[in-house]
Amino acid sequence: MNNPVDKLYNTKNLTDDELRELITSDNAETAETLRICADSVRQKHYGKKVFLRGLIEISSFCRNDCLYCGIRCSNKSAERFRLTEDKIIGCAESGYKKGFRTFVLQGGEDNYYTDERMCRIITQIKEKCPDCAVTLSLGERTPESYKLMKQAGADRYLLRHESADNGLYQKLHPPKMILDKRINCLYNLKEEGYQVGAGFMVGAPFQTVDNIIADLRFLQNLNPHMVGIGPFVPHRATPFSGFAGGTVELTVRLLGIIRLMLPEVLLPATTALGTISPNGRILGLQTGCNVVMPNISPSDSRKKYELYNNKSTEELSNIIADIERAGYEVSMERGDCIR
Ligand code: 5AD
Repeated sequence: MNNPVDKLYNTKNLTDDELRELITSDNAETAETLRICADSVRQKHYGKKVFLRGLIEISSFCRNDCLYCGIRCSNKSAERFRLTEDKIIGCAESGYKKGFRTFVLQGGEDNYYTDERMCRIITQIKEKCPDCAVTLSLGERTPESYKLMKQAGADRYLLRHESADNGLYQKLHPPKMILDKRINCLYNLKEEGYQVGAGFMVGAPFQTVDNIIADLRFLQNLNPHMVGIGPFVPHRATPFSGFAGGTVELTVRLLGIIRLMLPEVLLPATTALGTISPNGRILGLQTGCNVVMPNISPSDSRKKYELYNNKSTEELSNIIADIERAGYEVSMERGDCIR
């Protein structure tokens, strides 16, 4: 094999051996070639635009118990909050006035948000904020629930698959969580007509290079509209508090690989990447990322949505400064996937 980056750029694919070599390479020249190729593909499809999404964290109650997550139900020290319907709608309206045209409603798996409630919220946001996109990130729900929320006007759904390897998936999750169920949710969502986002954490405890290759193969098969990846960041009140976090280098390398494998995908420079390094977000943007999701939740609840330690609560103005410093343009458009 002479150069796996060129091959990936030209054919959008590599063998497992080539992927393994690229993922584990600590060669600075390879990293730079990957950055240049990823940036050229991103610019071919999306120019210099970076789409902003207004993230509204609606609830930190969660019935689930993922071992890595700070809002897992076993974490009795977590402060819990949930936004009322009016608060969520008000939050979207004030974001709309600032120019946001996508709202991401994200929360723990909280039974309070019944289908009826969610549909009311979605309908009202769509009524009060015409021409905006509503993205949901509410975990696993029934096919019926996904259908009803789509009918109410939801456009997109983010549900990270977390790991495509059954063994690793089980190590990261409680026994009642089943990888097949999660994957079914993603295919259900696609069938219902959502633009779908999957993804995983980089450097999660027990994750191997082969596990990462399985994640990339899964993404190639699912062919999602969006991919969310960020470094694992330990949270002090979880069973994984003593594990090392993921690195910026590996996260950025994988972002570049994903841009080349799925050229038209919407790829956020995630909050976790911005949290572990002051230039993490900029590096991500320069290596294929074209989305940033500023937090527009009410400030009193923001610190309670603590998925991991030191979660960044960056001001919008700093985020915009980063985007411009990296050489890109802020876009407040809906920013749909171009395929
Ligand atoms: N570090 C990094 N990412 C995390 N998430 C949850 N806990 C952590 C953590 N400790 C990610 C999961 C989830 C998304 C909402 O946040 O991948 O899907």
